Amino acid sequence: MNYRHAFHAGNFADCLKHALVVWLLRAMQRKATPLRVLDTHAGIGQYDLSAPEAQRTGEWLGGIGRLLDGPEEPALADYLALVRAAGAPALYPGSPALVRALLRPGDHLLACELHPEDHALLRARFRGDAQVAVHLRDAWEALRALTPFPEKRGLVLVDPPFEQEGEFDRMAAGVALVNHRFRAAVQACWYPIKHRAPVRAFHAALKDSGVRDIVAAELWLREPTDPTRLNGCGLLVVNPPWQFEAEGGAMLAALLRRLGNREVGEGSAMLRIADE
Ligand SMILES: C[S@@+](CC[C@H](N)C(=O)[O-])C[C@H]1O[C@@H](n2cnc3c(N)ncnc32)[C@H](O)[C@@H]1O
Repeated sequence: MNYRHAFHAGNFADCLKHALVVWLLRAMQRKATPLRVLDTHAGIGQYDLSAPEAQRTGEWLGGIGRLLDGPEEPALADYLALVRAAGAPALYPGSPALVRALLRPGDHLLACELHPEDHALLRARFRGDAQVAVHLRDAWEALRALTPFPEKRGLVLVDPPFEQEGEFDRMAAGVALVNHRFRAAVQACWYPIKHRAPVRAFHAALKDSGVRDIVAAELWLREPTDPTRLNGCGLLVVNPPWQFEAEGGAMLAALLRRLGNREVGEGSAMLRIADE
């Protein structure tokens, strides 16, 4: 396990994922009944943007650094307020910290992290918090072991590092498994767009799996033709709450306005992969 999210925290991919996850949770909380979030690849929950890792890549400067600087986009205001409250621009919150900030008294977070050091940091972060459970556990095994939720509603967030072959296949199988075990779950799965072919195959595999009601929110900063670069990314959502396509689409457009470089070929899209 070589991947360390500290090098990438706050980059454009984190901004897309976190802004949309905040929207999803808020939308699910329109109902008063308690919910649970399973964050399968949780990371350490908080990143120091002045640390050598973040400074070495400088990726956050093209992501949260830009969003915090200059005129604010209304569609991103909720996400940015949470990021500021978590300590930005000195610190950037990871997905479990953002989710924790949104939990209501009856809601719960299950966070899985397989890297022993990262798991220890995450566990220390939430020690004594009765609403958060941190597991040293493989994400793909957790999808089976920890679903369905006792609350019968919730969000499953899947955010693998994509450092190993077969990650798209594992993710497609995971989505189908969760959908089979826990039909009502909202699932949100992050994926890289380096070039189009693996993404198309992933979408096709999901469509063929019979899972219904799937939308993919995508943002790309240049034509995705160079397979060695992170040209864009997407968040695939199963069972999107009402108005995700419209409001998520506005968020994608805002992200593109602030994070794009006016490059030929940049863009964003809300794609319907499978109907309800
Ligand atoms: C992209 S990072 C997660 C970032 C985090 N979700 C966030 O948004 O702040 C992926 C994380 O997954 C962990 N990881 C890799 N393979 C895993 C597995 N099979 N099960 C659980 N965690 C895994 C890595 O150690 C890394 O911390």
